[in-house]
Amino acid sequence: MPFLPPLARAEGVLELIDGPVPIPFADMTCCMKDISRLNALFGGRLITMTHVKRLLADLPASRTITVLDVGTGAGDIPCALVRWARREGRRMRVFALDRDSATLQVAAQVVRGYPEISFICGDALSLPIRPGSVDLTISAMTLHHLEPDAGVRYLAELDAAARLGFIVNDLARSHIAHVVVWLITRVFTRSAIAKHDGPLSVRAPLHADVVVVGAGPAGSAAAILVAERGWAVTLLEKAALLPDEPPDGAGLLVPGLAFRRRRPRARGGRSISVVAGPGNQVDQGLPPIA
Ligand SMILES: C[S@@+](CC[C@H](N)C(=O)[O-])C[C@H]1O[C@@H](n2cnc3c(N)ncnc32)[C@H](O)[C@@H]1O
Repeated sequence: MPFLPPLARAEGVLELIDGPVPIPFADMTCCMKDISRLNALFGGRLITMTHVKRLLADLPASRTITVLDVGTGAGDIPCALVRWARREGRRMRVFALDRDSATLQVAAQVVRGYPEISFICGDALSLPIRPGSVDLTISAMTLHHLEPDAGVRYLAELDAAARLGFIVNDLARSHIAHVVVWLITRVFTRSAIAKHDGPLSVRAPLHADVVVVGAGPAGSAAAILVAERGWAVTLLEKAALLPDEPPDGAGLLVPGLAFRRRRPRARGGRSISVVAGPGNQVDQGLPPIA
């Protein structure tokens, strides 16, 4: 048995930057600059850059590289991409997308001197670009802002927009990460928003050791068996749950199937998370989940 139970997921709890209360521009600027500093100090930017270089390795040097950064924040990762391309003598265009126009104004200040970067104000769940119109899509610290069903749609959007692939860099939910992020945000950030949202963001990600696609009889049985052996399972289903599904999750009904979901946690196992709904077209190709 683990020493501590897994860190519970903070479901439906909004970070301040996602909340309904408008954030003053000076506070948003401070928060986004803090996040950029943490990216630089603790390797977040390096992780994204490492995978970008790997995915671009086979692209002919004469080709202009196009990248869409989704949830760009202060735009520090687009700047890092452009600096790398300049050093390598490559041509690059980066489209930096965020849904928050105030955040994009912060980014516009940060990326002065980088004409290779253009801004798009838009929603990651409905990307305003044609499928396959950029080489890469990248996402850093944005996936955890979305609830699981929206997260599945998000991955599908990133996948559809890119010709070569997509990179998602985000947090893992654990007690250790929670303590570390709490300490880091006390010491290295000035913004009260970052101090509040940082630790909360560690409690948001959906964690899965195993992803089972399709909650039919075989998928559901497999999910239960794997969970009973101690793994955290996410069960993806494109059909909506029927409305009479008990709210405590004790039973799960999907069209064509009714089964009793046993409680693996009570038997020393891990959890089953269910992501279901008409928006989740998982049968059209499951995006790679990093
Ligand atoms: C924690 S910040 C990360 C910023 C940047 N990628 C970084 O690593 O420094 C998350 C960003 O995602 C943006 N965001 C969250 N949900 C979004 C959505 N549905 N569509 C577009 N942007 C979104 C927020 O506005 C915010 O700027």
